[in-house]
Amino acid sequence: KDFDLTRHNTFGMRVKCARWIEYTSAGDLPEIMRQIGDLPFKAIGEGSNLLFEGDYDGALLHSRVLDMEAGIDNNGDFLLTAGAGLIFDDVVAHVCRAGISGMENLSAIPGQVGAAAVQNIGAYGVEVADIIDEVLCYDTAERREVAFTASDCRYGYRMSVFKTPEAAGRYIVTSVRFRLPAGAGPRLDYGNLRASLGDKEPTPLSVREAVIAVRDAKLPAVDEFGSAGSFFKNPVVDRSLFERIAARYDTLPPHYDLPESKVKIPAAWLIEQCGFKGMERGNVAVWSRQPLIIVNLTGRAEPQEIIEMQRDITEAVGKRFGITLHPEVEHVISPQNKP
Ligand code: EPU
Repeated sequence: KDFDLTRHNTFGMRVKCARWIEYTSAGDLPEIMRQIGDLPFKAIGEGSNLLFEGDYDGALLHSRVLDMEAGIDNNGDFLLTAGAGLIFDDVVAHVCRAGISGMENLSAIPGQVGAAAVQNIGAYGVEVADIIDEVLCYDTAERREVAFTASDCRYGYRMSVFKTPEAAGRYIVTSVRFRLPAGAGPRLDYGNLRASLGDKEPTPLSVREAVIAVRDAKLPAVDEFGSAGSFFKNPVVDRSLFERIAARYDTLPPHYDLPESKVKIPAAWLIEQCGFKGMERGNVAVWSRQPLIIVNLTGRAEPQEIIEMQRDITEAVGKRFGITLHPEVEHVISPQNKP
């Protein structure tokens, strides 16, 4: 337990792991797996969507695979293969500067390319699944490289095959191939994105700047206040439940209609209605401009304080609305403490 993880999780939890292993090539993985033997392991990126519940009694594998290769296929689509260890936003910036459209809405999301493909990051009406062509992984069970097509990845809202109970922890993403279709136009329909762009012409770079401005106004800067972005997923409920909730309000609550009589309700709204917006308690707070985010207010928060805030929010929303909030942040439990 001697590697300090404080700088390897954006929540700033002051926890440790038994071993920290960085590797610069996918080809190093077979040897690393031999070396760690029976020690439990987990691959992590920048730790920007994790909550360590305590020290991790195992090995953490951190990709530093930084290769990038670009090309254009016969249809004129732009193909980009990026190493799992690249910072996702560096790739987005690079692509936007090249004047290529498709990634700009995903600007300024923290984390690495590999993690982006595992959790299907999304923002402002675009999910990374929309632009993923293939994900290369090292299969730690079969000890070989495997390729997943976009459909093999079984993407859903913040979900992929890599997060299912059968596959979680088995595959280590080594690189991702993105496909940015030729002629794709800007996507400005989400929230206030179009307004934020003002009268500027929408180019990949101008949209990127508009997205960054919206994010800066709402989200805490992780170097100032530790967090892992949205703490909860936006719940999807039956339309009938939404209608019963809406009947209690004079104006229609925010919501997005989905197929099959389902409705997605912003968790931020539910949490705000329960009075948690801006709430400070001990070393933690619920962010005042986006209550979906729990922050490490003082930098000294313990995992338990965050978990207590999570529990109280979940209970309050459950009681008032009959909706169970599910965490979006992945909780990392030491292998020894796993049930
Ligand atoms: N809202 C409130 N009160 C608030 C803030 C928001 O009621 O204080 C309501 C408003 O109705 C607003 C709605 O919530 O229109 C949606 O808010 P926002 O646009 O900020 O998005 P979100 O649904 O809360 C999701 C993602 C974010 C992503 C944004 C923008 C999830 C769990 N979160 O948040 O992703 O940046 O959309 O696309 O889906 C993350 O995953 O870490 C993350 C930050």
